[in-house]
Amino acid sequence: MKSFVIGMLVGVLLFSGGIYYYFASGMAPAAAGDPPMFMERKMASRSLGAHIDKANVPAPPIQPSEDNYVAAAKTYKNQCAGCHGLPDQPAPAISDKMFPDATLLFKDKGVSDDPPQESYWKIQNGIRLTGMPAFKSILNDTQVWQLALLVANMDKIPASAKAVLAPEPGPAAAALAAPLAAPKAPAAKK
Ligand code: HEC
Repeated sequence: MKSFVIGMLVGVLLFSGGIYYYFASGMAPAAAGDPPMFMERKMASRSLGAHIDKANVPAPPIQPSEDNYVAAAKTYKNQCAGCHGLPDQPAPAISDKMFPDATLLFKDKGVSDDPPQESYWKIQNGIRLTGMPAFKSILNDTQVWQLALLVANMDKIPASAKAVLAPEPGPAAAALAAPLAAPKAPAAKK
């Protein structure tokens, strides 16, 4: 019995020492481009899922109306598109340069198979150890719900909201469209 207990203790010490060594010696991944650790994705998504389940987010307090979609599209374009991309546009350059990648929310199914409550929680609280920021002190509760409905229904939004999400015309197109409005070149310094 005594040697069993000693054996267990030595085992536990070796195991924790090994884990400490894995991190302290720099074997654990640290760069965004490093391959994931053993079970990293699985453990992270378990923990996130458990948190969201516990939070018991209520049903959306607002309707998926045209006004809400248009408002959401404006917020999305300002706050989210730089990482999560726009409909029918190439992915933003940084979206796959972080670990994990920022999901392209208007590509394929995006997160349209997640309930809006789940996306609401993620937008409010952010996702630890990812590039996903917490927006609860930046956006108000209605704005977060509007965004949660937008991403959940990305395949059903009205044309008015789609128009808001269209990219701004580049400087060349803008100059062609309004040649007279082009700013004058500053006067040369004397
Ligand atoms: C700086 C980049 C960045 C910004 C800005 C950002 N996100 Fe994210 N977001 C991420 C990353 C990275 C993830 C994590 C993806 C993962 O877990 O695989 C993420 C995850 C998400 C998810 C869950 C995606 C999934 O696959 O489950 C949603 C929904 C989301 N973000 C919505 C938003 C919204 C809405 C905004 C704007 C208010 C926003 N994000 C702003 C980087 C960003």
